[in-house]
Amino acid sequence: MTSHRIALIPGDGIGQEVVPAALTVLEAVGNRHGVSFTYDEFDWSCRRYLDEGAMMPADGLDQIRGHDAIFLGAVGAPGVPDHVSLWGLLIPIRRQFRQYVNLRPIRVFDGLESPVRRAVAGEVDLVVVRENVEGEYSEIGGRMNRGFPEELAVQEAVFTRAGVTRLVDYGFSLAARRRGYLTSATKSNGIVHTLPFWDELVAERAAEHPEVRWDQEHIDALCAKLVLDPGRFDVIVGSNLFGDILSDLAAAVAGGIGIAPAANLNPERDFPSMFEPVHGSAPDIAGRGIANPIGAIWTAAMMLDHLGHREAALEVESAIAGVLARTSVRTSDLGGTASTTDFTKTLLEFL
Ligand code: NAD
Ligand code: IPM
Ligand code: MN
Repeated sequence: MTSHRIALIPGDGIGQEVVPAALTVLEAVGNRHGVSFTYDEFDWSCRRYLDEGAMMPADGLDQIRGHDAIFLGAVGAPGVPDHVSLWGLLIPIRRQFRQYVNLRPIRVFDGLESPVRRAVAGEVDLVVVRENVEGEYSEIGGRMNRGFPEELAVQEAVFTRAGVTRLVDYGFSLAARRRGYLTSATKSNGIVHTLPFWDELVAERAAEHPEVRWDQEHIDALCAKLVLDPGRFDVIVGSNLFGDILSDLAAAVAGGIGIAPAANLNPERDFPSMFEPVHGSAPDIAGRGIANPIGAIWTAAMMLDHLGHREAALEVESAIAGVLARTSVRTSDLGGTASTTDFTKTLLEFL
């Protein structure tokens, strides 16, 4: 029996609903593969912020530093400004634990009709490799002259040679193990300092990976191509903000953002990696038991893979594909009537 110690942060809203669904799947697949999990659960959330004035304790990161992985639901709730909740919990974990790769795969499953004409099952299978610790998400900048006509806000984007290079290298290596094609998201026609630098670094790294074909696309055109012809993409590397936007777009192309998983990876394994679905806390549907658990369950599969249990991970992915291909059980975001637990029960039968 292999055992893993997981730091569990269900967080807010539907995070509280999709995390338990993923844990039942982990337990079932773990039993078949001799893998067990022990969870230390943390109540870090907007509720904690409102009660105690902080999203997590001052030594929060130290409390989870020694875990094998972090599994997180979602963060954010009405009543707490999003920049306060996210910069108080999610973003510090990503940064302090050097989870500089945010891996966000998406595929069109058989049985899930995409709203996009040319998004066909078996043909759309791509991964967004999102830079996760620098770029447009920075604390450098400020606001001045509050309330005056001269009021202004400035926000600096930070792109470092080391930060871009390691991310892009990860993307090229991943592409080499997949279909051998990489697309770099840029905007070096309008953004005159950072993205031309990004493009140069991508070209430098491309020279080291001659086995991978690659292109760069401006983010606006790339969004259009992702909708019109998603099957052409394999690995897409993008900055923090571009990767964020592209991953919700790709998920929507494939059926909805409730299905999309994410892994915040520290590839060197100096720190724990963090696994969380792409979607947020969905306050508009929270508390009703109708959230789609596919994103969280697929995320659990990514965690299994990261922890060395590739076969168990593939079984979970096959079970998701099985439910979608062979039943009509769907949560309401995908046009069905199943609850979160109905869907999860059906999926367990496919494991
Ligand atoms: P969101 O992803 O929470 O919701 C967007 C829309 O998608 C909503 O209509 C929601 O009902 C629907 N949706 C999302 N996940 C779903 C699921 N699993 N099943 C069914 N429907 C689903 O994005 P938002 O509305 O921009 O943000 C809401 C809150 O979540 C904000 O506080 C935001 O900052 C936070 N957020 C957190 C994370 C995170 O913790 N990783 C990610 C994104 C947003
Ligand atoms: C995500 C989310 C976060 C991000 C927000 C909530 C800060 O949208 O994980 O995709 O932009 O990184
Ligand atoms: Mn996002």
